[in-house]
Amino acid sequence: MNAKLYDTRLDLSAEIREKVVQILNLTLATTLDLKTQTKQAHWNVKGNDFFQLHELFDEMAGELEEYVDMVAERVTALAGVALGTARVASQTSLLPEYPLEITAGLDHVSALADRYATYAAHVREAISKTDDLGDADTADLYTEISRTIDKRLWFLEAHLH
Ligand SMILES: [Fe+2]
Repeated sequence: MNAKLYDTRLDLSAEIREKVVQILNLTLATTLDLKTQTKQAHWNVKGNDFFQLHELFDEMAGELEEYVDMVAERVTALAGVALGTARVASQTSLLPEYPLEITAGLDHVSALADRYATYAAHVREAISKTDDLGDADTADLYTEISRTIDKRLWFLEAHLH
């Protein structure tokens, strides 16, 4: 999915900006999807660990909401068009749909761990891609996201051992 670039006084070439914007819009769609899936877990988890997981998932969704905004605004800073509706997210996201029937804490933890792992790999790949393209600022944004997501994957996996 692609949209036009606007003119800008920014010193990154249109060719570079176009490539970076494409990567960022894929991240935007996937982050939105992961955020709503994490909320789905926050609302529907049941069992002994209910309260702890309910709170943890909400904290994680809150971080993702911040990244949605940061990624979308990096797109517009590069004079691109942020593609951030729910319909675009569902068509473009790298994630499979969340299992809607699960309830147990460990089932939610495991479903989220799978999705966080996919997202973590995408974000890490985006660090080097945007760095190679010469956009150190976007690479830095991805590095910040990557550090948090790796930590969250650790938190999730720590429940599964
Ligand atoms: Fe809530």
